[in-house]
Order: sequence, then structure tokens, then C-alpha cells
Amino acid sequence: MRRLEGKVAVITGAASGMGRATAARFAAEGASIVIADLNAEGGEAAVRECRENSANAVFHKTDVTAEGEIKGAIERAVKEFGRLDVMFNNAGLAGALGSLEETSAENWDRTFAILLRGVFLGIKHAAPEMRKIGGGSIISTASVAGLRGGAGPLVYSVAKAGVIHLTKCAALELGGDKIRVNCICPGGINTPLIHKHIPGGDPVVRQLLDNIQPIHRAGTGEDIAGAALYLASDDSEWVTGTAMVVDGGLMAGGNLFGGGAPRPAFQTPAKWSGPSFEKD
Ligand SMILES: NC(=O)c1ccc[n+]([C@@H]2O[C@H](COP(=O)([O-])OP(=O)(O)OC[C@H]3O[C@@H](n4cnc5c(N)ncnc54)[C@H](O)[C@@H]3O)[C@@H](O)[C@H]2O)c1
Repeated sequence: MRRLEGKVAVITGAASGMGRATAARFAAEGASIVIADLNAEGGEAAVRECRENSANAVFHKTDVTAEGEIKGAIERAVKEFGRLDVMFNNAGLAGALGSLEETSAENWDRTFAILLRGVFLGIKHAAPEMRKIGGGSIISTASVAGLRGGAGPLVYSVAKAGVIHLTKCAALELGGDKIRVNCICPGGINTPLIHKHIPGGDPVVRQLLDNIQPIHRAGTGEDIAGAALYLASDDSEWVTGTAMVVDGGLMAGGNLFGGGAPRPAFQTPAKWSGPSFEKD
């Protein structure tokens, strides 16, 4: 028996990286999927991958900052596939880069709109559909950067801490309706989001990430897809309000990135870093 047979999922940020890997994994486990992303080209490619696994999948162009568009992606799932069992709030970017004093209030708000308000909107509009069918699983992508300082850009880290706390508060509200709310805290995962910031792309990122955690290899989208599959499936029926760390042991201890000072990669000049498929 496949682990998501008959279930319907919406995955935001599924055109690339860990969202796309999760869509492929969910498809192989029998789910029907709405691929919700800003990036139409990557989104249609993700749909083709899901269909190669004989799964039902559609692309729905979605900006997670727009309440009507998130609602629209959820309505699309119900219209196409009849129900909503799993909502994966995963879309993201690096957002505002630079020191605190260099960060404009506008770029603070833009980062929060995508990373935190987008998750709030996903939970808000998924819950009523899940209540109708007697429960469901809401998963969001936070980050190890939300668990401690110095593991990501400043505004990004604060927004991801918000995702972790939102997860716990929402789990309390929705537990009575058997709607589970959990988040995943990935460590360094080799995806286009990271490639965008490191000259040399994939091979350089891989080498950089290979050595920073006790398990000496870079994280992959598939590592996160495995965690998302557990949280989406009935195997995690009694699990809610958790922040599941998937980081090759990075947070287990030791000297994160070799010291207390901010990592050079995070000491970038102040600028806006948009979605990974767009040039800044
Ligand atoms: N890569 C890492 O090391 C890492 C670590 C921890 C957490 N994360 C988080 O994981 C999630 C997935 O990132 P990834 O690494 O797979 O990056 P990615 O760039 O490969 O994928 C992110 C996707 O989100 C989409 N997106 C961006 N803004 C959007 C918007 N406003 N509306 C809809 N879609 C939008 C992008 O188009 C892209 O397809 C993000 O939330 C990211 O913050 C990444």
C-alpha cells in the first residue's frame, strides 16, 4: 500500500528544490498534487515528473503573499481532486540581505510577507477544507536558522523563527479537529536558493556543505521529501506542533560554521534576493 494513496496535497514552492523533490515523492506514494509556485516553467516540469509516476498533478500559478492566490490554489485542489488532505507551505527565498542597520523596512516586510505571512495564509485557508473531511496535515518549511542566530541572513532567520512559533500556536488551535500542524527545519540543502548566492553553483555548494555537519554530505531535496512524507502520512497521526530538524546533525552541537561571528556568506552587502528562478 502506498503511503499517500487517495490523499490530495497542495505544495507551495514546488517548482524547484525541496518542494519539487517532495512533489515527486508524494506522487510516487499515490497522492494527487497541486504544484503552486510563481515559476510557471519549473511548475509545469514538476507536473510532468509527477505524471511520470502516474499521479494526478496540476500547476497553479500562485504568489504566496496574495491571500486570494493561496485560497485559489486550495480551491483548485478541491475542484480537481475533491478534497485537501495535505498543505505544504514551502515557498521561500533569501529575501533581505545585509546587516540590521542596512536593512530597509520595505525589504523586512517583503521577506516576512513571503516567509511568514504566506505560511499563515496557507494554514488559514487549508484548515476549513481539512475540517470538512475530518482532519489533515499541514507542514511548513522553517529552517535551522529559525532555531539559533547566525545560521542564515538576519531577517530570514527571524521570519523562520516565526514559522516555528506559528506552527505550535496553530497546532493548539486545530488539534481538536484532527488537523496536525508541523514544520521542518532543514540544514544546508543543495538547491537553487543556495546556488544563487555562491559563485560556481552546484559543485561549489556541494563541497561547502559536505563538511559542515556530522554527516559529511550536503542535504538534498529528497532528505526533506522523506521528512515531509512522514508528516503527511498517517504514520505521524499523533504528531503535532513539532519542529522537525533535518540537518545531518548540524544542530547537535559543535561550532556552527566554525565560529561565533556571522558566516562570511551572510555578510553580503545589503540587497534584495528574489526567488531562485529570477535574476536579482
Ligand atoms: N536550501 C536550504 O539550505 C534551505 C535551508 C532551510 C530552509 N530552506 C527553506 O526551504 C524552502 C524551499 O527552498 P529551496 O531551498 O528548495 O529553494 P528553491 O529556490 O529551489 O525553491 C523555492 C521555491 O519557492 C518559490 N517561490 C519564491 N517566492 C514565492 C512566492 N512569493 N510565491 C510562490 N512561490 C514562491 C520559488 O519560485 C521556488 O520554486 C524555503 O522556504 C527555504 O527558505 C532552505
